[in-house]
Amino acid sequence: MKDLSEKRESFAGSMTAIMAMAGSAVGLGNLWRFPYLMGENGGATFIAIYLLLAIFICLPIILVEFIIGRRSQKNIYGAFEVLAPGKPWKLIGICCTLAPILVLSFYSVVGGWSINYLLKALSFSFTGENSNPEYLSSLFSNFVTDPYKPLLFHTLFLGMTAVIVAVGVKKGIERFSKIVMPLLFVMIIIIVVKAVTLPGSSAGLNYIFKPDFSKVTSETVLKALGQAFFSLSLGCGTMVTYASYVGRKENLLKCSAGTVFFDTIFALLAGCAIMPAVFAYGINPSEGPGLVFVTLPHIFSQMTAGGPVAIIFFFSLLIAALTSSISLLEVLTALLTEELHLKRTWAVVISFFLFWILGAACSLSQGVLSDVLVFGKNIFDLFDYISANILMLAGGLLLTIFVGWALGKKVIREELTNDGSLRVPPVLLQTIVFLIRYVAPAAIIAIFIFQTIS
Ligand code: PHE
Repeated sequence: MKDLSEKRESFAGSMTAIMAMAGSAVGLGNLWRFPYLMGENGGATFIAIYLLLAIFICLPIILVEFIIGRRSQKNIYGAFEVLAPGKPWKLIGICCTLAPILVLSFYSVVGGWSINYLLKALSFSFTGENSNPEYLSSLFSNFVTDPYKPLLFHTLFLGMTAVIVAVGVKKGIERFSKIVMPLLFVMIIIIVVKAVTLPGSSAGLNYIFKPDFSKVTSETVLKALGQAFFSLSLGCGTMVTYASYVGRKENLLKCSAGTVFFDTIFALLAGCAIMPAVFAYGINPSEGPGLVFVTLPHIFSQMTAGGPVAIIFFFSLLIAALTSSISLLEVLTALLTEELHLKRTWAVVISFFLFWILGAACSLSQGVLSDVLVFGKNIFDLFDYISANILMLAGGLLLTIFVGWALGKKVIREELTNDGSLRVPPVLLQTIVFLIRYVAPAAIIAIFIFQTIS
């Protein structure tokens, strides 16, 4: 196994690895979904539930993915050939490859929307008569249903993603994440400061932080788990692929805790950036996707210095989307270079065309192809539904079963202690093994059952 790792690129150290992994995790899921989910589901109580789930269920699943990636030093498909040669576990690799293909197809379309809105913010378009909600709402729907413009921006976004990935793991992914992740945190903090100093913003903070146990049901728990799963990029091979670039000396517990920490802090900051402003301007907080592209431009147009704030916000959205999309593209790129022995550039070019076509179908499904429905959903919603509600969960379940039961306790212990060279308290190790073998699979099966029933 050692010679394999020597041929591959690897991240410079655990902090760089955490930056790249947090880059994958922090994305559109944090910026629009988390804030309104926490508002709708009991504020501080939801946050407490989310934290417990992130620590006791998602952290073990991230560890599982890190163990597979770092131990095999391989892509999501080849990893099983190294860890369980000749066994049918490779099928998990296929399931985990399908998920990022579907996610990146619609993610790239939304990434394209954020480029368009950044350009609008840069030309100070959300001002004067262009700032009323009806106008902004029709601006958004005219844009997404247009057959050409969103395609152009989807191409641009995917092109940017492809260039970063083609440059390589160290010079592309690592360097980009190392520069933009701290910038992203600085930018979101600037917006938080602006938002919490608006008159009337305290109602928004109350909405997200005031515990309201009456809003907590079993559904809340499952919603929080679903959100944590998507937000932490679990079950779709991205964390396995990134972990395959983590050196044998790095501490996997530290990398996984760091990733969960940054992703959660960013989600909380996004809540503090958005909700106080939403309340200060008397807007309905459960707007969903429209919140980002319709409501926020309206809010920016009302506040003093709203123009620069809009630029910072849409720039952050674009960067957050890019650091996630590069991790999605890397899953397929690593697979094609290692399994089909293609050159990195060729692997990226082939992936680009695949994602361009699938993304184009998602983009057109908002307009000219909106009549094409599968199970009552357009192509965009179908890709979103199948990936987030089926493939990622199934991937997470199978990966935990693989590590918990097929690789077993000994391998978990070896990986978490780096073959005994790191001191990890035995109680902690036993707890992690228990969480991986029993608690995490049970929680995922519970979401499956709940989704099927509802
Ligand atoms: N975690 C990303 C977000 O919150 C989305 C994502 C899912 C990225 C799966 C990679 C893999 O937006």
